[in-house]
Amino acid sequence: MRLFWRPPVGPLAKRGFHNLHAFDMSSKMLDVAKQKNIYKKLMCIRLGPEGLDIPDDTYDAVMMTGAAGLAHIGGDCLGEFIRIVKPGGYVVMDTILKHLVGIEYNGRSWDETLDDFLMAGRWVTVTRRQIENSFNTNEGMQYAFRVK
Ligand SMILES: C[S@@+](CC[C@H](N)C(=O)[O-])C[C@H]1O[C@@H](n2cnc3c(N)ncnc32)[C@H](O)[C@@H]1O
Repeated sequence: MRLFWRPPVGPLAKRGFHNLHAFDMSSKMLDVAKQKNIYKKLMCIRLGPEGLDIPDDTYDAVMMTGAAGLAHIGGDCLGEFIRIVKPGGYVVMDTILKHLVGIEYNGRSWDETLDDFLMAGRWVTVTRRQIENSFNTNEGMQYAFRVK
């Protein structure tokens, strides 16, 4: 009998990224992620002001899609993203623009928090742009920052 293994195909895999970990606070969403058969590790983690149990400089990049927003993930997780990404690595995020309204962390809005990390020299901007018809006709924001 011959067994064939087909590598998983997805947008990241097609570009050569295969060593992927996923985290979400919802075990149901992690079940959905598991079915994709592309993640080597799945972690049930609530992103917030508490530190992550992940060593410094672990990842080449962190990607967060559709999760930044009021009542979801706010500016409080960004310092942890920077900490767990290696210098020269990337933090890449997208979300629905209107969901960012009202986010506040330490008295700073989402955009002010992004700017604070720029001013502190923690990252540089690669992309920060508004996208029309991004998610179900909603306007979206796309971000990529290179960690210093
Ligand atoms: C709109 S879904 C997007 C899911 C997935 N990223 C995608 O693009 O299909 C938002 C996800 O953010 C997760 N989430 C919201 N707040 C979170 C937090 N504080 N920590 C971890 N995950 C969170 C939810 O459980 C949910 O799965």
